[in-house]
Amino acid sequence: MNPASRETVAVIDLGAQYAQLIARRVREAGVWSEVYPCTVKPEDLERLGVRAVILSGGPASVYWENAPRVDERIFRMGLPVLGICYGLQLMTQAMGGEVVKADTREFGRATLHVGKNGGELFAGLPSEMTVWMSHGDSVRGVTADFERIASTVDCPNAALSHRSLPLFGIQFHPEVAHTPRGKDVIRNFLFRIAGLRGGFAMESFVEDAIAQIRTNVGNGNVICGLSGGVDSAVVAALVHRAVGSRLHCILVDNGLMREGEIDRVVETFQGHFHVDLHVARAADRFLSRLEGIVDPEEKRKRIGHEFIEVFSEKAKEIEGAEFLAQGTLYPDVIESHSAFGGPSVTIKTHHNVGGLPDKLHFKLVEPLRMLFKDEVREIGKTLGLPDEIVFRQPFPGPGLAVRILGAVTPEKLSVVRKADAIVLDEMRQSGWDRKVWQSFAVLLPVSTVGVMGDERTYENVVAVRVVNSEDGMTADWTYLPEDLVRRLSTRLINEVRGVNRVVFDISSKPPSTIEWE
Ligand code: XMP
Repeated sequence: MNPASRETVAVIDLGAQYAQLIARRVREAGVWSEVYPCTVKPEDLERLGVRAVILSGGPASVYWENAPRVDERIFRMGLPVLGICYGLQLMTQAMGGEVVKADTREFGRATLHVGKNGGELFAGLPSEMTVWMSHGDSVRGVTADFERIASTVDCPNAALSHRSLPLFGIQFHPEVAHTPRGKDVIRNFLFRIAGLRGGFAMESFVEDAIAQIRTNVGNGNVICGLSGGVDSAVVAALVHRAVGSRLHCILVDNGLMREGEIDRVVETFQGHFHVDLHVARAADRFLSRLEGIVDPEEKRKRIGHEFIEVFSEKAKEIEGAEFLAQGTLYPDVIESHSAFGGPSVTIKTHHNVGGLPDKLHFKLVEPLRMLFKDEVREIGKTLGLPDEIVFRQPFPGPGLAVRILGAVTPEKLSVVRKADAIVLDEMRQSGWDRKVWQSFAVLLPVSTVGVMGDERTYENVVAVRVVNSEDGMTADWTYLPEDLVRRLSTRLINEVRGVNRVVFDISSKPPSTIEWE
């Protein structure tokens, strides 16, 4: 996905987590950016029409045996290059400079003093500014080709520029929020140094993606599994724009979804977009597979197997489909390759709808491979998907089955579904649903004594789980306003038959997980 007309900046990955964030900042500045592995060749950059290169930071030292390196011809192509942290060290070493090994790391905020020769990289910026440092080694000596343009007390060569080639290097991290003017440094590199125009917007991504899908798919037919989530919905809407009635969507109703979710997907895709949608009504099949199963892993396994069976059966009904569209996102792609000598980007076999086996032999269509989640949401809005789908919180593949502790029964499903709907309703009405990562109800296999009217009750406990998280890997419980917590408690006990007690989960991850099973 990189039409020649689009200005593209290559971020060369020398340590995955930094590269993603840099690409992100470049896109926020209105320039399309893609992350490439460090094995990328100058010829590749030329072929891809890359207009500037940024070398990411990374945890390595240039003195490590297996340190990631780049093809040094990249520095002499005439392309503007900005080396960040380890990228700076690699660049100066490649150009004859000296990098000194450090015994300790410099980590945290520092004051950068920009020289009078700060030039285009620091144009419009103050002569002193706060920057974030996170490095061990540093550049000690540079050849006469380089000049120092900024420094900190601990790091004399905090920014360098080459005298005759468009090469720049900075020891600090402009991509992190702790470098408040970092965005301006990046913008200066893009617009003043590389002379880019900017103005990239998601609308143009959509047009290019549609053209690309048409080229790849030709006259073929495409299958797409809808899960109710934003990624698969955006893929389906995009592919539908590209190939129209040659897109065939499959929605597996496993009976474990939230209230109204299946109907909303059907209404959106069949009712609104007029997509050829095949709904597999398989709730009974999933429920009988789950009968009496208490062990969480066993539940997941059974649901996964059943999903594959149901999906494959439905897929067989669609004749002549050779493509499978999937909502693989950028982090899924990036996580799966290593900066340390990884040959090239290998794609993790990631399936939004559940693990589909390779033996289905589809060719993959993955138009979101280069996007972050919030960019996918932006595209979803551009394509006219409803907010309930675009801003849907993450929801586990095994659905409500892992939010019923103990064996799943139709009665328990209906209790947890109702409780869950109340939690979501209150979160939405108070505007808290978009401030948190997830908010949901869990039905505990515990009965407690209560009193309602004059009657003694002996009913179940519902736990409310609300967490903040960046990526689901770590999470913290959310401190909700008291009135919201009170409303949740009152409504859950009053409106959900079979529940007489509500508890609030105050566990972070780790050591707990987000889901209870
Ligand atoms: P845990 O419970 O491991 O969850 O802290 C982390 C995030 O992943 C979601 N989750 C799943 N998502 N299939 C999914 O697509 C699954 O089987 C699954 N299990 C957990 C969970 O909701 C949270 O956002």
